[in-house]
Amino acid sequence: MLAIEIDNLTKRFNDKTAVNSLSMHVEEGAIYGFIGDNGSGKSTTQKMICGLLNQTEGTIKLFGKSHQDITMRRKIGLLIESPALFPYVSAYENMKLQALNLGIKNPKKRIESCLYKVGLKDVGKKKVKNFSLGMKQRLAIAISLLGNPSLLILDEPINGLDPNGIIEIRNTLLELNTKYNITILISSHILGELSKIATHYGIIKDGQIVEEISAQELSKRCEDYMIIKSSEIDQVKEVLDQKLTADEIVKSDVNEIKVYGTMDGKRVNTLLVEKGYIIEELSFQRMDLEGYFLKKMGGLAYE
Ligand SMILES: Nc1ncnc2c1ncn2[C@@H]1O[C@H](COP(=O)(O)OP(=O)(O)OP(=O)(O)O)[C@@H](O)[C@H]1O
Ligand SMILES: [Mg+2]
Repeated sequence: MLAIEIDNLTKRFNDKTAVNSLSMHVEEGAIYGFIGDNGSGKSTTQKMICGLLNQTEGTIKLFGKSHQDITMRRKIGLLIESPALFPYVSAYENMKLQALNLGIKNPKKRIESCLYKVGLKDVGKKKVKNFSLGMKQRLAIAISLLGNPSLLILDEPINGLDPNGIIEIRNTLLELNTKYNITILISSHILGELSKIATHYGIIKDGQIVEEISAQELSKRCEDYMIIKSSEIDQVKEVLDQKLTADEIVKSDVNEIKVYGTMDGKRVNTLLVEKGYIIEELSFQRMDLEGYFLKKMGGLAYE
C-alpha cells in the first residue's frame, strides 16, 4: 500500500509555477528523503499533502484515499514550520495546550506516551527555555504525534541543529519508523545525514520529480568511478568517448574527467598511451548520495 500517491500535481502562485505536474510514490513504512535545491518546490508539495495549501491541479492520495478525506487528515502529523513553543512553561504544559487545541480530551496519557516516544519522558516537567535545540525539535515532533499519525511530514527538521541534536533527531525518527511503524516524508539539505536513515529518495527539480529511487538501488548505482587527470583532458575525453565502452564520461574540472560504468583502468591507460597523452592521475572513487544528487541535478559536470 502506498502511504502517499501523487499524480500530476501542480501549484501555481499567480504566474509562478512552484510545483509542475509532479508525481510521487511513498510506500507505507518508508523513510522517504525529499531532496532538491532551494526553491525547487519541496515545502509547497509538503504543504499540499497536509492540506495547508490547495493544489491548482492533480490528485493526492493518502493510504489509498483522497487527502481531503477528513479521516486521512487525522492520520498525518506535520512539522512544516517550527511550532510556537511557549518557553516559560514545561514540555508537558506545551503539549497540553496543543492537545486542547486539537480537541483531545483527558490528554495526560497521550502526552506522556508522545513524550516517551521522542525520549523526553524524563524532562516533561522542565521549562522549555532550558531545552537544547535538539530537545525543542523533539518536542515539536512529540506535538506532531499527538493525533496518533501513521504518516509524518517533516520539512527540514534538522536544519540548524548541532551534531548532537542531529543524532537525537536521527535516532528518534528511526525509532518512530521501526518501532511504531510510522511512515516518514522528510525533506533535508543535509544529504549525508539523510542517507543514514532514508529507505527511499525522491529528487525534485523545478517542481518535478526527476527520480524516485530506493536506498538499495542507490547504493548499487553509487558505483565506483574513475577519475582521470591530464593537461590534455579534452583530447583524452574525445579518445575515450570513441574507443571506451562506458556508461558516461563527464568533464568534472579543468583538467579532470570522471568515467562511469567501467573499471578497466588498463584499457584506458593503453588507449591513451597509444595516442601519446600524458595522464597525471588515474584513480578510483565511490560516489556518495551527494555526488549522485549533484550528478542528477546536473551540477557535477564542469561544463
Ligand atoms: N506563497 C507563495 N507565493 C508565491 N511564490 C511562492 C509562494 N510559496 C513558494 N513560492 C515559490 O515557489 C517556489 C518553490 O518554493 P518552495 O518553498 O516550495 O521551495 P523549497 O524546495 O521548499 O525551497 P527551500 O529549500 O528553500 O525550502 C519558489 O520559487 C518560491 O519562491
Ligand atoms: Mg522549503
